[in-house]
Amino acid sequence: MVESNWKESCQHDVLEVGSGTGIISEQIFRRMQSGDKLTIVEINSNFLTITYKKMVQTFGDKEVTDSVIFVNDDFLKQRMPADKYSRICCSLPFNNFEPEIIDEIFQEMFRICQPGGIIVFYEYILLRRLRYWLGLGSNRQLKMIEDVLTGQIRKSAIEKISIYTNFPPATVHLLRKPI
Ligand SMILES: C[S@@+](CC[C@H](N)C(=O)[O-])C[C@H]1O[C@@H](n2cnc3c(N)ncnc32)[C@H](O)[C@@H]1O
Repeated sequence: MVESNWKESCQHDVLEVGSGTGIISEQIFRRMQSGDKLTIVEINSNFLTITYKKMVQTFGDKEVTDSVIFVNDDFLKQRMPADKYSRICCSLPFNNFEPEIIDEIFQEMFRICQPGGIIVFYEYILLRRLRYWLGLGSNRQLKMIEDVLTGQIRKSAIEKISIYTNFPPATVHLLRKPI
C-alpha cells in the first residue's frame, strides 16, 4: 500500500486515516524524507496511543514529534485545509459504514488532497460477498457500498494492485485527484 504510493519523489504532506495500531504508519514514516510531514487521524484513543508509543520506540521521540501529528477524532469531524495533502492513505473499514458516509469520506479526501495528489485505500477481496453469505449485511446495503466504491474507482483510479499472499487477500486502489 505504501510502496505503490511512494514512487514519485516530491515533498510529502501525508495523511493517514484510520491508522489502527500503526502498521502502515510505521511504513510511511520509514519512507519519509527530511521536511515531510505525516498526520494520523484515528478515532480509537487506545490504538492511537499504541501507534505513538511504537513509533517513538522505533524512530525516537524527537524524530516523531518533529514530523508527525496525532489526531484522536472522527475523520469527518475535522475541517482540514483544502488541497493540503500530497498523499492520503485510508484504511477505514468501508463495509461497516452507510453508503452516504462513504461518499462523504471520499468527497472530503478529494477536497483536502492536493491537485495531482494520490489517495490510496484497500479492500479485502470477497469480503462483501462473504458478509452477504454469512448474513452479516443486507444485500441491498452491500450492493450500495460496492456501487459507491466502484464509482470512485471508475472516476479516478490510476492503479489497482491485488495481493493474494496477504491474509486475507487484498486489493489496493490508487486514485489521483485531477490537476
Ligand atoms: C481496518 S482498521 C486499520 C488497520 C490499520 N491499517 C492497521 O494496519 O493496523 C480501521 C481503523 O479505522 C478506525 N476508524 C473507524 N472509523 C473512523 C473514523 N470515522 N475516523 C477515524 N478513524 C476511524 C478504526 O478505529 C480502526 O482502527
